[in-house]
Amino acid sequence: VRCFAVVPAAGSGKRMGAAVPKQYLELLGRPVLQHTLERLLAVAAVERVVVALAADDPRWPALLAASDPRVMTTIGGAERGDSVLAGLRALAAEAGPDDWVMVHDAARPCLRPDDVEKLLAELKGDPVGGILALPSVDTLKEVEGRDIVATVDRSRIWRALTPQLFRYRLLTEALERALAAGATITDEASAVEWAGRRPKIVEGHPGNIKITRPEDLPLAEFYLRQ
Ligand code: CTP
Ligand code: MG
Repeated sequence: VRCFAVVPAAGSGKRMGAAVPKQYLELLGRPVLQHTLERLLAVAAVERVVVALAADDPRWPALLAASDPRVMTTIGGAERGDSVLAGLRALAAEAGPDDWVMVHDAARPCLRPDDVEKLLAELKGDPVGGILALPSVDTLKEVEGRDIVATVDRSRIWRALTPQLFRYRLLTEALERALAAGATITDEASAVEWAGRRPKIVEGHPGNIKITRPEDLPLAEFYLRQ
C-alpha cells in the first residue's frame, strides 16, 4: 500500500488574531507551514503531500516547501472538513481505495517523524485506520451552567491529535456523506465514526500541539528546538 498526506492549510486563524494566517507566522525564523511540511516529508513512506490552501493565498509561492516535487496544492473550503475533502479529491487519480491517507493540520508544526512511523507501524494491516491521541491528564468535569454534575471517567477519555490515518476510499466516502448530511465533523475520525466504523488510537507525543492562540508560539518554539 502507498501512503499519501493531506494538509488542511486554508484557515484564517481567528483565535490567533494575527495580521497573517497562523500557518505563515514564523517560528525559529521559518513559517509554521514550512516546519509542518518538512516534518511530514521527513517520513520516507509519504509519497505525496496535498496542501489545501485558501483561494487567495499570496504567501504560498514564496514558501520553500512549495517547490518540493512531492508537494502539490488544491483550493480548500469553508470548513476544515471541506478543505480535507478537496485534498482527498486531488488524490483521486493517484490513490487506490486501500492506500493510506494521513491528514495533518498545517497548524501542528512540532510533529515528530517518529510519531508518524509509530502510527503507520501500529495500524499496519488495519482495515480502517486511526489517529494519534493523548490520554487526558486533568480530571474532567461535566458541567451545567457553572454547576458540576459529574466527574467523567478519565481513563476512557483521549484527546485527538493529527495525523489521522485512514484508508483512502473509506475516508473519502465517510467525509462526503457526513458533510452532505450536515453532521458536525471536527476531525477525520468523527466522519469515520459517523459512518459506523471504529478508528484506533495510537498514543502520540504531548509536544504535537496545535497552534491556536498567541501563547502557543513560544511553546511551539520550545518543542521545535528539542
Ligand atoms: N483549516 C482549513 N480550512 C478551513 C479551516 C481550517 O484548511 N476552512 C485548517 C487550518 O488552516 C488548520 C487546521 O485546519 O491548519 C486546524 O484548524 P484551526 O486550528 O481551527 O485553524 P483556523 O481555522 O485557521 O483557526 P481559527 O479556528 O482560530 O480561525
Ligand atoms: Mg478553525
